[in-house]
Formats: sequence, C-alpha cells, structure tokens
Amino acid sequence: MTASVISLNSFSQMKKNAKKFAVLTAYDAGFSREMDEAGIPLILVGDSLGMVVQGRNATTAVTLRDMCYHTKAVCRGVERALVMADLPFMSYPTPVDAISSAADLMRNGASIIKLEGGSWLIPTIEQMAERGIPVCGHLGLTPQTAISLGGFRMQGKTEPGAKLILEDAIRLQDAGASMLVVECVPASLGARLASELTIPVIGIGAGPDTDAQVLVMHDMLGLGDGPKPRFVKNFLENAGSVRAAFIAFRKDVESGIYPAPEHSYRPGIRT
Ligand code: KIV
Repeated sequence: MTASVISLNSFSQMKKNAKKFAVLTAYDAGFSREMDEAGIPLILVGDSLGMVVQGRNATTAVTLRDMCYHTKAVCRGVERALVMADLPFMSYPTPVDAISSAADLMRNGASIIKLEGGSWLIPTIEQMAERGIPVCGHLGLTPQTAISLGGFRMQGKTEPGAKLILEDAIRLQDAGASMLVVECVPASLGARLASELTIPVIGIGAGPDTDAQVLVMHDMLGLGDGPKPRFVKNFLENAGSVRAAFIAFRKDVESGIYPAPEHSYRPGIRT
C-alpha cells in the first residue's frame, strides 16, 4: 500500500468529494497496526475500553491515565492513520480541565480529541479550537451519560428530539469542532446531520447516509457473548483473518454496502 499520511484536512476533502470513510476503535499497538495496514484512515481510542478491555459495564470508571496509556500504545502501531482519543468521564467539566486533559492525550500521540455532550460544551470547544486542539463532538447516545438518557437506547426519535440534536450539532460546528460522531439515532436524522453540517459526520447506528461509519473493534470481530446492538455486523466470520475483516469493513463502508437497512434505526424500532 502507498503510504500517504492522513491529515484532518483529508477528512474534509473526503466529505467534499462524497467519499465515505471507515473508522474503528483500537486500544493497543497490535490491532492499530493491523488497522493501519488495512487502510483504515482514522482510529479512535475510545473510552469504550472500559467495557471491552477492562470488563466494566459502563465507561464512567475510565481515567485520563487509562486513556493516555492506551493512546500511546495505539500510536506506536500507526504510521499513516490519524489517531483520535476520547476525553473520559469528568476529565472536562470546565474548559480549563478540558484543555489540560486534551493536552495530556496529545502528548501521548492523539491528533484529535473527542468529547461527549451538547451546547454546554460550546465555551469548551471554542477555547480548545482557539488554542489549536482539534475537536470531535459526540451527540445522540452519549455512553458517559447513558444513565441520565435512560440507558443505551435510540436518541432523537421524536421530531423535537431530532431538532435538538441537529441544533446542538450546528452549534458544536460553529464553536470550532472539526468532526462529529453521532450514535444510535434514526437513519433519517443521520442523513440530515450529514447534509446540513459542513464537517464530517461519523455515524454509529445512525444509518447509511453519514459521511463515515465507526464501530467498536470487539463488536465487528464478533467478540463477546450476549445481544449486540442492531447496527453491529460481524466482519470476521467470512474474512479469515483480523486484517481481512478490517479491510472488508473499510471496503463495505466506502462502497455503501455497510450499513444495510437491517443495521439502521427508525422511530418505532427497538434499540
Ligand atoms: O468510546 C467509543 O468507542 C466511542 C464509539 C462508540 C464511537 O465513542
């Protein structure tokens, strides 16, 4: 593979050219290397590591120290992809905290920092962007506050709920966010977000029309027992190797094969 290094600008260009891109979570160098080799352009060190790596039932116990450790490990495996890292629960209650926590993640190799929440984050995002910290917002189902949202369930299913997410998304963009993750919303809302925002919108359970798709690595490799959300597809079962599964995911996202209608939500469908 030709090694052209990915920059933040690459994702804006992909959106302008209507070229969809694939994003996966990784937590260590072994898997991030495979993703990089598979041509995944953006790797997320998600605080989902609290669940899939640490074995907890929520992300709230993940610390900034945990995130720094895994970010450093992931970056060691990557030559080409951009690495995004999550600010964990309560590491960004104020703009000053957010800047300091984000700086720690960037010192460990992250190029863009993701945080969860709506309009209360406007001053934080403005100040981060002013200081040169690239930011990705996260709306819809926000796992750090899943308890207040009534659990891990679809968001934005009523018109007022969808409007609120859309308005928040525009405010985050105007504050300086460079990307947005939107999780577990009706496909119609995913499509509206992607068409109304100029920044790339990365969907997870947000239908086929977002600019990119992200999955938690463990989910798309079929790891773990128990029911999976409807948007999860096991890419390993027909692939033969982990790298082939990553390549299959990338190609299916780029060509629009994934997500298929059965992976999407619409109001009335159970999460
Ligand atoms: O923590 C994470 O893995 C995430 C993805 C679910 C988008 O935020």
